[in-house]
Amino acid sequence: RTAELDSICLKAEVIPVITIDRVEDAVPMGRALVEGGLNVLEITLRTSCALEAVKRMKKELTGASIGVGTVLTPAQYRQGESAGADFVVTPGTTEALYRYGVESPVPMLPGVATVSELMTGWQYGYRRFKFFPAEASGGAKAIKAFAGPIGEARFCPTGGITLDNADEYLKLPNVMCVGGSWLTPKAMVEAEDWAGIKKLAQEAAERFHH
Ligand code: 3PG
Repeated sequence: RTAELDSICLKAEVIPVITIDRVEDAVPMGRALVEGGLNVLEITLRTSCALEAVKRMKKELTGASIGVGTVLTPAQYRQGESAGADFVVTPGTTEALYRYGVESPVPMLPGVATVSELMTGWQYGYRRFKFFPAEASGGAKAIKAFAGPIGEARFCPTGGITLDNADEYLKLPNVMCVGGSWLTPKAMVEAEDWAGIKKLAQEAAERFHH
């Protein structure tokens, strides 16, 4: 599990967190991000076309890793599995999700914001976490502090991260990558400005290349 998540997260400095309003946008948007150099994408289950978007991206964007995000329940986790997702991301955790994730063939990156949530995940064998909402939950300072009691845990922080503060996180040894919605601004998506989105991806990929 940990190795699987490492192979996904370590190839991504930055994971675009994407909400798809129009399913036709999924493939061109994904292609722009991949061509820009970001090939790990998280599609949030915040819209009704999200699962269809994941299916289309899996089919068309070979070589990219496509995850489902905003997974709140084991039922949604199962839907992500059926859509072909490579990984599952949750904003927070429940015992039910932790248990389900251990059995699932698709690895889960559970969302935590506190040491207690981290400890619960730790008991179930999880070693890789999303730190959410990162900026509101103490930012890079909090992740730095987690390294004291639980040195083996690694994080993908998201929530309030942009090109300007990503580096504060990425320079920490227990941060694998960062995630955020800044790579797919609503106005650009509405205008189908895929070249603009590719440029944002390129900027992030070049700046944060390992
Ligand atoms: C997430 O679910 O990871 C967040 O919605 C992304 O946060 P951001 O919009 O602040 O980048």
